[in-house]
Amino acid sequence: MTPSSPRTALVPRPAKARVKGGQFTFDAGTRMRVTAGAEPAADLLRTLLAPATGLPLPPAADGPVVLVLDTALTGLGSEGYGLTIGPQSVLLRARSVTGLLRGVQTIRQLLPAQALAASPRPGVRWTVPCADITDVPRLPWRGAMLDVARHFQPLPYLLRYVDLLALHKINVFHLHLTDDQGWRMPVSAYPKLTEIGGHRRQSLIGPGGDRYDGTPHGGAYTRADLTRLVVHAAARGITVMPEIEMPGHSRAALAAYPHLGNRPGRTLDVWTRWGVCDTILGVHEEVLDFCRTVWEEVMDVFPSPYLHIGGDECPTTEWERSPAARSRARSEGLTGPAALHGWFLDRIGTFLTRQGRRPVGWAETGSELPAGFTAMAWRDPAHTLHAARRGHDVINSYHRATYFDYPQSAGPDEPPGQPGGVVGLRDVHGHDPVPGTAPPHTAARILGTQAHLWTEYAATPARIEYLTYPRLCALADVGWTGPTTWADFSARLAGHTARLDALHVGRHP
Ligand code: ACM
Repeated sequence: MTPSSPRTALVPRPAKARVKGGQFTFDAGTRMRVTAGAEPAADLLRTLLAPATGLPLPPAADGPVVLVLDTALTGLGSEGYGLTIGPQSVLLRARSVTGLLRGVQTIRQLLPAQALAASPRPGVRWTVPCADITDVPRLPWRGAMLDVARHFQPLPYLLRYVDLLALHKINVFHLHLTDDQGWRMPVSAYPKLTEIGGHRRQSLIGPGGDRYDGTPHGGAYTRADLTRLVVHAAARGITVMPEIEMPGHSRAALAAYPHLGNRPGRTLDVWTRWGVCDTILGVHEEVLDFCRTVWEEVMDVFPSPYLHIGGDECPTTEWERSPAARSRARSEGLTGPAALHGWFLDRIGTFLTRQGRRPVGWAETGSELPAGFTAMAWRDPAHTLHAARRGHDVINSYHRATYFDYPQSAGPDEPPGQPGGVVGLRDVHGHDPVPGTAPPHTAARILGTQAHLWTEYAATPARIEYLTYPRLCALADVGWTGPTTWADFSARLAGHTARLDALHVGRHP
């Protein structure tokens, strides 16, 4: 589809699209025929269009807007859809409800951008251009991670965050719920995790240095909040994958329950610094019981098949100094305390696998995760292929292309961000998560890609959106469409910004 008109500047770009002459007009009398099973897509279309358009789209057996769920459409896979728009009709077809939900977002993008506004826009003609679209994603995993541990974000913002992901056909919302600086997941058997671990005294200001802001920060979700998030995301075809970090990045848990650590009798605060903390979980039975109990509650709340258990940046000095950890390493027949890292992840991963779930971990070298783990390879571009060759499914998370906590330019006006790099829009757009050198059987293990926003320097929704957009538009395009030319992408993005503006996304210019 040519990006010549803002209306057809679709992001992500459909696999196949042809714009024809003419248009279909939605009005107050437009009815919708919805085949059995397609109701969730009809509900979503009504929900998304109601605030600005007020279109009721009532059901009718002879309605000109038709949503069809047809399991025989095998070529469309689990997320694809076909959309045929003529002057008298709109036909959206898919093999799965998820495919219909993706098509609903395309219809929304084809309408005038005012359709995305949060309040009534009277006087606009709600037209969509006639077109034939057949659209199937290139990669099955197109994710976005938000770190709500460094800076808590309340539920209403998470719901909006998910709405914006859905507009871009992102299908995984990775929620980083725990870290050294905060624990946001309620666990009924361990109430102090949120009561104590959910609050820190203050935070380090800016990258480097030793200056603190003196401002307490805190917050935690309730089960009802998280359940509402899961339901809201599912209605938009998005899976919420929770992450509970272990055995490192767990200082907030240790502040709440110091006996889970490696030095009996010690008390710790919820960490006020950023970076890698050397206090980590112990390896005694009580810790494993704790982890299983936490995961049982997490599994109760999150139906996601994938569960992220962290595993990154885990210094093992505490284990090396701990008689209990050294003895555990010996009794497990390990080469030494450092090998407890893989042992720990394997114990938890096996537990999750037995419950029918799939463990995900951060891969720092591509070699360290136990078999059966899906790897998020973040450090080096070569690690994606390395982990895939070792038999892991991999989500390409190369930090120089997917970490949105890096500033978007080296300009003097950028707000403080993660030091040490710049991730520009072109870096995101130009990074192919499936390296061209990958042989087919290795490439097949690369499930997709994911944006990551660590929030040391992003305390507010406004800052989160500034860092996320428009870079997420590029990542969504790479994951759904595959490589496109910069000219093609940037022309479509120019049209797409009218939608972001209608949604009041405070994007980077
Ligand atoms: C990471 O950036 N520590 C996964």
